[in-house]
Amino acid sequence: MAASFARRVCACAGVLCALAALAIGAAGGARAQNAVWRVPDMRALPDDAHGRLVRLGREIVTQTPALIGPGAPDPAQRFAGNNLACADCHLEAGTKKFGLPLFGLIADFPAYSERRGVEISLPQRIDSCLTRSLNGRAAPADSPAIAALVAYLDFLSSGMTPGEQLAGHGSGAIPELDRAADPKRGEPIYATICAACHRADGAGVPRDPGALSLGYAVPPLWGADSFNDGAGMARLITMANFAHSNMPGGADYLNPKLSVEEAWDVAAFVESQQRPQKPGLDHDFPDLIEKPIDAPYGPYADGFSAEQHKYGPFAPIRAEIARLKAERGANAQ
Ligand code: HEC
Ligand code: HEC
Repeated sequence: MAASFARRVCACAGVLCALAALAIGAAGGARAQNAVWRVPDMRALPDDAHGRLVRLGREIVTQTPALIGPGAPDPAQRFAGNNLACADCHLEAGTKKFGLPLFGLIADFPAYSERRGVEISLPQRIDSCLTRSLNGRAAPADSPAIAALVAYLDFLSSGMTPGEQLAGHGSGAIPELDRAADPKRGEPIYATICAACHRADGAGVPRDPGALSLGYAVPPLWGADSFNDGAGMARLITMANFAHSNMPGGADYLNPKLSVEEAWDVAAFVESQQRPQKPGLDHDFPDLIEKPIDAPYGPYADGFSAEQHKYGPFAPIRAEIARLKAERGANAQ
């Protein structure tokens, strides 16, 4: 009931909506922004061609390896190179707040991609996850898988007003350490908290060891079947925040189970392990000044070491990039 009320009040103008959200927040004791996190209901979809396409898109998100993974029945549809599911990272089928949601972002595309130096469409953004997070290959824009994924992401954005921004995107923004995150400190944290599920060797737990295309009960964090070194999750800031907001299983951003320091150090330990390497990463980010400060591969616009880009501390790098940008701005005048 609360959810349908929230959905209705949020069809109104921004200010009113914010007020209504505050009122709900106060009454419910929840944070104000919870009220606008309104995920549309799949069950309300009719059983027509569009409804079936949206449902297929959701299945690709949750059962990725069976449908587009290395063991998918149709070789032409094998785009993912590992057996991860989109939903292993985009939690709750892309609807969890600070669980890298795919919710409410359709209006953000086409968007400028710093990595490629050009504007990219939503299918091209999906391709980045196919080639990096899923260590596979890009899918043709007219492939059935992309049509279904775009239909699902579009459905997840229904009810959004153009330009509306929802708090809850990404994986959070925990405070940074003023020292480098430390794989050595992270190792015992991994052993005590994460290894029970992700296993000591980081390889996770397949649903059926004889049929990897059924995906993982717990996904791998490193090793041959994990995301490659060009993936967003291979960046420390992304993983530390993801872990703090979502791990161990059952945690969420309101009830984190790791301290901030533990999140940084355990993420550093996981990022220090071996994973597939993507060739040609040095061509990413034609304008190096736009490169994320925690990209674990060079070249860089600044003089900081690859080690510091990988583990921090990040504040000095951020300050140097800001200085370089200001310098460029001054030169352009
Ligand atoms: C290993 C984890 C992982 C997997 C698996 C994964 N992604 Fe992602 N995805 C990410 C991360 C991390 C980001 C954000 C990257 C960044 O910080 O720029 C992202 C971003 C995205 C975005 C852009 C979101 C935005 O807010 O602009 C889309 C769309 C997306 N992924 C779709 C998919 C789809 C579809 C699949 C499955 C076919 C998939 N991803 C699989 C980790 C993953
Ligand atoms: C109770 C079991 C459990 C524990 C403990 C746990 N995880 Fe996870 N983790 C999962 C599951 C299951 C997923 C897949 C997403 C989902 O279904 O919630 C996942 C997904 C992930 C992912 C994204 C997917 C991938 O393959 O990269 C990362 C990163 C991650 N966990 C890190 C950690 C870290 C770091 C710890 C320890 C602090 C941890 N997890 C503890 C169960 C667990």
